[in-house]
Amino acid sequence: MSQHLTTQTGAPIPSDQHSLTTGPDGVTALHDRFLVEKLASFNRERVPERNPHAKGGGAFGEFIVTEDVSRYTRAAVFQPGARTETLLRFSSVAGEQGSPDTWRDVRGFALRFYTSEGNYDIVGNNTPIFFIRDAIKFPDFIHSQKRLGASGLRDADMQWDFWTNSPESAHQVTYLMGDRGLPRTWRHMNGYGSHTFSWMNAEGERFWVKYHFKSRQGVEPMSPEEAERLAGTDADFYRRDLFEAIERGEHPVWDLFVQVIPYEDGKTYRFNPFDVTKTIPHADYPLIKVGELTLNRNPQNFFAEIEQAAFSPSNLVPGIGISPDKMLMGRVFAYPDQQRYRIGANYNQLPVNMPRGVEVRNHQHEGPMRYHFNPAETPVYGSNSVSPVTADAARAGEVNWEADGELIRAAQTLRADDDDFGQAGTLYREVFTDEEKARFHDVLVGQYEALTVEDVKQRFLQYWTNVDAGLGQTLRSRVAAGDSGATTTQPLGDS
Ligand code: HEM
Repeated sequence: MSQHLTTQTGAPIPSDQHSLTTGPDGVTALHDRFLVEKLASFNRERVPERNPHAKGGGAFGEFIVTEDVSRYTRAAVFQPGARTETLLRFSSVAGEQGSPDTWRDVRGFALRFYTSEGNYDIVGNNTPIFFIRDAIKFPDFIHSQKRLGASGLRDADMQWDFWTNSPESAHQVTYLMGDRGLPRTWRHMNGYGSHTFSWMNAEGERFWVKYHFKSRQGVEPMSPEEAERLAGTDADFYRRDLFEAIERGEHPVWDLFVQVIPYEDGKTYRFNPFDVTKTIPHADYPLIKVGELTLNRNPQNFFAEIEQAAFSPSNLVPGIGISPDKMLMGRVFAYPDQQRYRIGANYNQLPVNMPRGVEVRNHQHEGPMRYHFNPAETPVYGSNSVSPVTADAARAGEVNWEADGELIRAAQTLRADDDDFGQAGTLYREVFTDEEKARFHDVLVGQYEALTVEDVKQRFLQYWTNVDAGLGQTLRSRVAAGDSGATTTQPLGDS
């Protein structure tokens, strides 16, 4: 059968070259339904971009459990030998959709498992920590990374003003200004769940868990000079690299490890395990291998499968829960809320967001663009005496924790080793090599040079002095001597 163009309702189209006009040179008829439909469709192509994490790319793959962690969780996805289809989206945090991939930034690592018990999402980053520890500061943090109200420009002063007034950011900013702030590609970085999550085994025993996805491609940085060059010549460098590698059959792999903290230890451990600005030393809770993640299939349609993908820390499955981390508890609300606005109320009915191999059954119905509906005999209300379909707490395997106390607004309780700068200093002194330290100094001097407000400059130097006195001294003498730093892949602070 010959192929022909049709309208949205399937009728053949007479021409996609010429509008309907009064003679070849006349006026256009408003009733040209073919022209009107085409222009109207075009006008509605864009949906709001994610705020934040607008620029990204992703691919589908498979997660295989190679070890036995069933003593820690009953989740089907982590049972020995389980194979689960996955979708992984990488992203930058601050930039908008067209932003160059190689601007210095934290990178998103959002992973969906289409499990046999519903979708499970780990919406993490390429850093094991975060800038702040209370969700109420998140919009302020992102605003300081975005653009000035009047000029619409990004601004180094604004960014460093926020960071230096938020000392809990020091650990993450140390990561960001180090080599991990500029990965060679998305394939050459690790992924982390960052927060502490909860697992529960078949006996109902609970554990606190941290996820680490280690890249088999290795963790490799890009130089600021190369990043700057690519920002100008190939803004989609990371997106291209991932897509082309998968097309070539070079399927990137990450090994998943977890740190498992017994539930009771969480109450007394020397760092507050629910503070996302802290890592938990491996010496205290070693890495335990779970399995391997391979990306092996590119999307067929970027918009339908990547742009409309709606990851959320609230997408949990039996035997896996969140934790009393004040960021994570806020995130559980924030993601589906933005997705209802960004994509539409029934976004979970889109193929990329639908669970696979699991039937969706509840009494929610209607709303814009509702596609799926219950069979006619299904009651439209719960607490009915007609349908045998009921909630099932045992099957749901919800993981909760003890909580008590008066409702107040306060900083978290400090544990024995908790402070804002300690782990940042350890990262700088004990983890960075001498070469990494030298590059880090260059980047920080470059950042300092972008500052214009004297008070922010002074706080910048004090912030790094708090991280490490020697580091502070090095920076003070370099900026006093007028040494120049690393080239910045602008907008501020972006390198
Ligand atoms: C309270 C703190 C936070 C809030 C309120 C928040 C909010 C959001 C929102 C609203 C989106 C857009 C979602 C969408 O439209 O699909 C988003 C995206 C994202 N966030 Fe957060 N976020 C927070 C903290 C974090 C943290 C700590 C991490 C990492 C550990 C993170 C990682 C991501 C990633 C990777 C994406 C992109 C997801 C994708 O690829 O679709 N966020 N965030």
